[in-house]
Amino acid sequence: ESRYNAMINLRKGLISREIFSSKEVFEEELEKVFTRSWLFVGHESQIPNPGDYFTSRMGAESVILARDKKKKVHVFLNSCRHRGMKVCQYDHGNTQLFTCPYHSWSYTTEGKLFGVPQFKSLYEGCLDKEDWSLIEVPKMEIYKGTVWASWDKDAPDFMTYLGDAKTHLDLALDARDGREGGSEVLFGVHKWIIPCNWKFAAENFLGDTYHNVSHRSVDLIGIGPSAEAGVKGRRDNELEKAQHVWVNFPGGHGVHSALMPENTEFVDTYRDNPVIAEYFRHCHEERKRRMGAERNRLVPFVGTIFPNVSFHGTQPRNLCVWHPHGPEATEAWRFFLVDADAPQEVKDFLRKYYMRYSGPAGMTEQDDMENWNYATAGSRGVIAKRYPYNYQQSLGKVQADHLMPGNVSTQVSEENPRQFYRRWRDYMNGADWNTLLGRHDQQPASFAE
Ligand code: FES
Ligand code: FE
Repeated sequence: ESRYNAMINLRKGLISREIFSSKEVFEEELEKVFTRSWLFVGHESQIPNPGDYFTSRMGAESVILARDKKKKVHVFLNSCRHRGMKVCQYDHGNTQLFTCPYHSWSYTTEGKLFGVPQFKSLYEGCLDKEDWSLIEVPKMEIYKGTVWASWDKDAPDFMTYLGDAKTHLDLALDARDGREGGSEVLFGVHKWIIPCNWKFAAENFLGDTYHNVSHRSVDLIGIGPSAEAGVKGRRDNELEKAQHVWVNFPGGHGVHSALMPENTEFVDTYRDNPVIAEYFRHCHEERKRRMGAERNRLVPFVGTIFPNVSFHGTQPRNLCVWHPHGPEATEAWRFFLVDADAPQEVKDFLRKYYMRYSGPAGMTEQDDMENWNYATAGSRGVIAKRYPYNYQQSLGKVQADHLMPGNVSTQVSEENPRQFYRRWRDYMNGADWNTLLGRHDQQPASFAE
């Protein structure tokens, strides 16, 4: 019996605190979860030209997202083949060659070993440059501008991995007027380190609407673009009439979305500025026309794509990666998305709003981080660790609902995290891809052994 089966008891809804604090569990996660699952690396809009690169991470390792001379996109391990030094020291830029600062081996943007100092006198006949390219991910896919990669050559293609979570993620990635793709990453990436286990953040974004009390003060002040006089009330009314859904998917992903009432009225939240107001009104109408009234009703709030990529689907619209640094340290990277062809005024407006809302100085997100910090500390105590966490919310009571694909619940439940940890356990047990894609699942997570 694996130790992970004992730590994750779904039948009883109990999860060991150990998984949020143990160094050993963490090391095993890096090996078993982060080398197999599909991870978000960056966005094409960050590297539009040949020679452009953006330094990213996969698990705890540095990688380079690069566009070569022929415009092909690559993801390389940012580690010299000679002694492992970082061959790319910068966050982003443009280059002809990645030159290692240690002994100056250099690599092309296709990853080929190009220059070796004193090659003729020291290496001729000993070293075949062909064999010493940068290490490249075996699996890389670009989806609506987002770049995803996996270190597992046997991983299924990204669409199979994503499954029906696609419908929800799509709405975060598509332009506001309903065109497919059409988004770009706004300015730099927000990066900061949170003293918490990465799973608390990932889990929160699976649709933990139950924690909204944490944001009560900020909700009362009303900082969002919808907070201007009278508007918030009208928008809240619409949201109250909406059918909220919490949906999880075989791959371990989970979302909280809503089906808005039919013929949802356009709530003009930006009336102070005619350019912005007109842009969003235009988007609203175009979107309805393109998607049809039915599909246009779906509004995705938050979601997590297993294991560590979360998103906000409405404003603020972004992807957030929870990079694992250690059992008690997570580096958050937030990529804000805007319509690439929106007027500059709209982009500026959204940039300011995003900064006010998100990140370490954002008025909403600091509430969440405070929770995760203490939950992590609470997972470490000698006495505390003898008592598991409670994941029993609506345990065994979730009626499958057929409103849309996936395991749908129409009230908040912990079914999404139960499914997430069920998959997490399968990865930790070294399961095959059929299991990881849920092909052997007979029942929802709350009934699962
Ligand atoms: Fe890169 Fe030696 S470590 S050249
Ligand atoms: Fe929150």
